[in-house]
Amino acid sequence: MDFAEKIEKCIAVIKKAPAAGAAFTGAGISVESGIPPFRGAGGLWNKVDPSFIELSRFQREPEACWSKIRELFYNHWDKAEPNRAHILLAEMVRAGYIKGIITQNIDCLHQRAGINHDLVHEFHGTLDALVCLKCSAQYKPERELIEQNLPTCPKCGGVLKPDFVFFSEGIPQEAFECSFQLAMNCSWMLVIGTTGEIMPACEIPRQAKLHGATIIEINPEPSALTGSVTDIYLPGKASVVMDAIAKGLDF
Ligand code: APR
Repeated sequence: MDFAEKIEKCIAVIKKAPAAGAAFTGAGISVESGIPPFRGAGGLWNKVDPSFIELSRFQREPEACWSKIRELFYNHWDKAEPNRAHILLAEMVRAGYIKGIITQNIDCLHQRAGINHDLVHEFHGTLDALVCLKCSAQYKPERELIEQNLPTCPKCGGVLKPDFVFFSEGIPQEAFECSFQLAMNCSWMLVIGTTGEIMPACEIPRQAKLHGATIIEINPEPSALTGSVTDIYLPGKASVVMDAIAKGLDF
């Protein structure tokens, strides 16, 4: 089946589905917004030791870790804009084709593209909140907080941590439950821009498949899901492939 035939097949799956679908996104969907991925071409972990977001190291050396977190995440995050893929996913939600987004991304670009935050399940947390490790107070990542060498809680002086999941930290309970609930109740799942290597997130497309969903994968490179979980693999950049799918939908 060539690319055009695969697109036709996807559109038929989406239009004929007895119920709405879902999307599962990874770092690849934000690459065209200028946010580097973690693995593969231009991957962050090819250049930087990820231990600065290992929880135990953060607790031992918060100032050193914060310096890397500012440089690699916050300093370019607020310049990033949703790209065509985020915008078209939001259109598909508005048109009723998609009932929820599960994202591994912490960049909030799905919400900035106009998807209601209730419909975006942030499996790895978010850059858009800081939490005090001492009193659990939450704050928005305002410049005057994150620009401190060591961001501390205005209430109790405790160390502030960005509210995304560090290595060896658990997945937020509500995001975990809502994500698997959505995966088990969707007719099809668009899997966009993920290596499919990180547990337990990579179990989400597998659960969707086990519960009868058709898995449609968009990625320039095959992933750990392509040969085993994916039903229709669409090679290419997220914005280009999403454009091709959107052309066949009514919105
Ligand atoms: N469009 C679509 N996919 C793309 C694009 C693009 N323009 N550019 C790259 N990709 C694909 C790559 O081929 C790769 O499969 O995006 C994927 C990026 O892989 P990762 O960086 O590993 O991203 P992800 O799978 O989301 O990582 C999962 O790992 O470090 C943790 O918490 C971090 O949430 C992250 C998790």
